[in-house]
Amino acid sequence: MYTFPSYNNELLYLMLYPKMSSIDQRLWKRIKRVSENLRREDAVLVVSHHDADGITACAIIVNLLKEMGKDVEFKILRQLDSVTIDSINSTDRTIVFTDMGSGQLSLLRERGLKNFYIIDHHPPEMDYKNQVNPHQYGYDGGIEISGAGVAYLVAKSLGNESMAHLAIIGAVGDMQDSDGKLHSLNRIILNDGVRNKLIKVKNDLRLFGRQSRPIQYMLAYSSDPFLPGLTGNPNACIEFIKNLGISPKREDNSWKSYVDLTFDERKKLATALYIHLLDCNVPEFIIQGMIGEVYTLLNEEKRTELRDAKEFSTLLNACGRQNKSEIGVHICLGDRGKYLKKARSVLQKHRLMLREGIEFLTEKGVEELSNLYFFDSDGKIDENIIGVIAGMAYGAQIVSPNKPVIAFAIDKENPEFLKVSARANWSLVRRGIHLGNAMRSCSRDVGGEGGGHDIAAGARIPRESKNEFLNIVNETFKKQLGD
Ligand code: C5P
Ligand code: C5P
Ligand code: ZN
Repeated sequence: MYTFPSYNNELLYLMLYPKMSSIDQRLWKRIKRVSENLRREDAVLVVSHHDADGITACAIIVNLLKEMGKDVEFKILRQLDSVTIDSINSTDRTIVFTDMGSGQLSLLRERGLKNFYIIDHHPPEMDYKNQVNPHQYGYDGGIEISGAGVAYLVAKSLGNESMAHLAIIGAVGDMQDSDGKLHSLNRIILNDGVRNKLIKVKNDLRLFGRQSRPIQYMLAYSSDPFLPGLTGNPNACIEFIKNLGISPKREDNSWKSYVDLTFDERKKLATALYIHLLDCNVPEFIIQGMIGEVYTLLNEEKRTELRDAKEFSTLLNACGRQNKSEIGVHICLGDRGKYLKKARSVLQKHRLMLREGIEFLTEKGVEELSNLYFFDSDGKIDENIIGVIAGMAYGAQIVSPNKPVIAFAIDKENPEFLKVSARANWSLVRRGIHLGNAMRSCSRDVGGEGGGHDIAAGARIPRESKNEFLNIVNETFKKQLGD
């Protein structure tokens, strides 16, 4: 039977993970210098990215500056490109970019931006005095720290450690725990969160809804990973649970959440799911990601989405990708009431759109070139969630893990352009794939712009150059793979 390594107890956890490593001193010096400059600013506009990491990064800096008595506003963008840069250029405030900017430094200069800071974890184009980016000190921003993590280190250097949980939500939102745990700088931040009693860590099943949903809905709504025969079928899920001898109901006849199960029942369910996915030939990296560390937010109410970092990040992703990012920022800053109510309804819509997107793709299928899979949304998948759907294609077994996935959607602001999202997996990255480099150079070759991480990236390209772009990307992947 699968056994969760258990280190519920904070002390034991800290013994197992004593300071795994400390922050590189040169990076810490840079952070302190940039933070000191930031301390001298008065009116600030924080500009961030519309996913869970961008929203948490934004909230960390807004909280920091507000506590320091500054006049702060924030704005969340879909992406940083020539159009969106121009939309913020008229502000008199000092701009602080979080979770974006490093990959667009030349564009920011080209568009005439002057007084700005960059707090980011995307591979940087070049150095800049008011930039904090761990890549410049040998860290990989795709796995060792998120945008929210870098924002947290800035706050920490100014004496504010109160938002460590948001940095963990950001890292989880960027899937930096996809092999079952957080590493390196993320781990140092996690230690701060545990020490300050904001977070508890243990190993367990990592499905959305473990706190907030009846077990059969946790299973039936699981799209990450997709559970063959169970996702989309609550009745089959009840049977699955009952066949394990687990009662899905409490004594008062209400439905149990996963967190209501005993330790033995949880082990039984996790083992059965593990074997079920192996039987269904689900790729091993997807199965492994299903079990691992879960991060409980100790100041949040039990049995709500906000109690679990993965659920929290899903809620924020939904807000961001459904153009309601400001609700997400408010929730991160501690507002509840009408904001939480609205976020929950946005989440429902988001999950429906993801389900419909996956159904569309299952029916339509993908096309392939020698080194990539690709598909077009045919106007049926919104550009904001096309990347999420592309990433889910592995778990839903629409594509096999041997090649990256490239997806196209209509650019809402300019239908003459296409939004491109690219997704890979760690096995491809280990073999040499770097999607961010490929998106940056190949989009430029056809008159577009793009960038991102090795494992997840995106671009914007002229519509008519789609085929040319695909061929160039295919050739680039061939070179990256070294054959
Ligand atoms: O701009 P940012 O770094 O926050 O964006 C990274 C995006 O890539 C996130 O939305 C995250 O969910 C996605 N991602 C992914 N698969 C991975 C890693 C990241 O879809 N394995
Ligand atoms: O939009 P999507 O989730 O596919 O973005 C994945 C990653 O690619 C994000 O880190 C995002 O910042 C980056 N990206 C980019 N330039 C674009 C689109 C996306 O750098 N034009
Ligand atoms: Zn990020």
